[in-house]
Amino acid sequence: MSVGIDEISFYTSGQYLDLKTLAQQQGIDPNKYYDGIGQEKMAMPSLDEDIVTLAANAALPIVERVGPDAIAALLFATETGIDQSKAAGVYVHRLLGLHSNSRVIELKQACYSATAAVQMACAMVARQPERPILVIASDVARYDLESPGEATQGCGAVAMLISANPRILEIAPEVGNHTEDVMDFWRPNYRSNALVDGKYSTKIYLKSLKRSWENYTELSGVTYDEIDYFCYHLPFGKMAQKAHSQLARVNRSGQTPEELERQIEPTLIYNRAIGNSYTASMYIGLCSLLENSTDDLTAKRIGFFSYGSGCVAEFFAGVVQPNYRSALHPQKHQKVLSERVELSHDEYLRLYHFANPTDGGEHPMPEETRGRFRLATISGHKREYIAR
Ligand code: HMG
Repeated sequence: MSVGIDEISFYTSGQYLDLKTLAQQQGIDPNKYYDGIGQEKMAMPSLDEDIVTLAANAALPIVERVGPDAIAALLFATETGIDQSKAAGVYVHRLLGLHSNSRVIELKQACYSATAAVQMACAMVARQPERPILVIASDVARYDLESPGEATQGCGAVAMLISANPRILEIAPEVGNHTEDVMDFWRPNYRSNALVDGKYSTKIYLKSLKRSWENYTELSGVTYDEIDYFCYHLPFGKMAQKAHSQLARVNRSGQTPEELERQIEPTLIYNRAIGNSYTASMYIGLCSLLENSTDDLTAKRIGFFSYGSGCVAEFFAGVVQPNYRSALHPQKHQKVLSERVELSHDEYLRLYHFANPTDGGEHPMPEETRGRFRLATISGHKREYIAR
């Protein structure tokens, strides 16, 4: 029996800061961002959006198709948790009307946790093939203003239905891992912005790629030239280009720069316009590949490198299924991106500086999102979400 991704849908906020605006403000050449890090825009959540609303909006098309009672469990991956105890997915469970007999759990290990959720969901479906699992990865990436990380912020959520006999991607059981206790990127409980040792983090990312690839190829017997396309974790587009060049070098592939580019370029299109969405970013990259590649990807093998700072990394692979295109949502995704509004630098700062109230009072949120779900109020320390 095959197990994997039956449907995939993403969502991001309705506004963005163009990185040329940030560069102008900083008095630097915008090409540092456009070419140097490979990013053009970064999505900013409105005041009534957070990981819950992004997640519910991402999953809505899937739940509308299969019906809320079809989902056996919701696995929610995030590193932008809104509560130390309650799983954010429980709010999503209600917003989407999932059955009370379905369970919810939140998973954390930086950007890697979405892959942990996907693998856990595959194992659950292998035990009970008639019970599909909804995996959602949702994050808001935030760094300090005027830090090197500032241009690599963003936000987004991706929802995937993991099922038996999937329509989009069969995921192979073999994985290669690398785990190491490092401080490349972290966010202590008392901070809303991540701390990062930027240059070090890129080195650890590349080291983890080499180690998890070696583990993967040894355990699976799959060789580099048997993989057609590569989806890398995407903190910024240039990271994937550096990663892919390294992997090709390690494997002495002898490919030209154009051949290397062809294997990753379609994965970068959506993220270039969204920015880092942490747990969601690699899977939004998969969506980007499936929806933007002009090639027929049927029977192509895709390699995935999932990286979560701290760090845990995983290399795995999947094979694209016949008629995968009929299960995709390209028009919906392009609409979400094309209808977004550009922010001025002042508007960006207004959103950036908003701090969640902590006084326990009644705080209605301004109605800003154009998504179906919104954070309506924070009242008595409780977050209240509604459908519009
Ligand atoms: P920086 O230090 O300001 O950038 O920030 P830089 O000075 O190294 O420049 C970047 C590139 O732009 C360089 O190219 C420059 O040459 C080029 P490279 O040497 O890298 O090939 N450049 C230009 N290109 C064209 N025209 C110009 C120009 N000027 C310069 N005019 C840094 C870079 C990555 C450190 C920063 O963005 C950062 O700290 N980001 C956050 C950390 C991060 O994303 N790390 C990635 C690996 S860790 C990870 O992926 C996990 C994560 O997602 C979290 C999680 O797991 O939860 C972050």
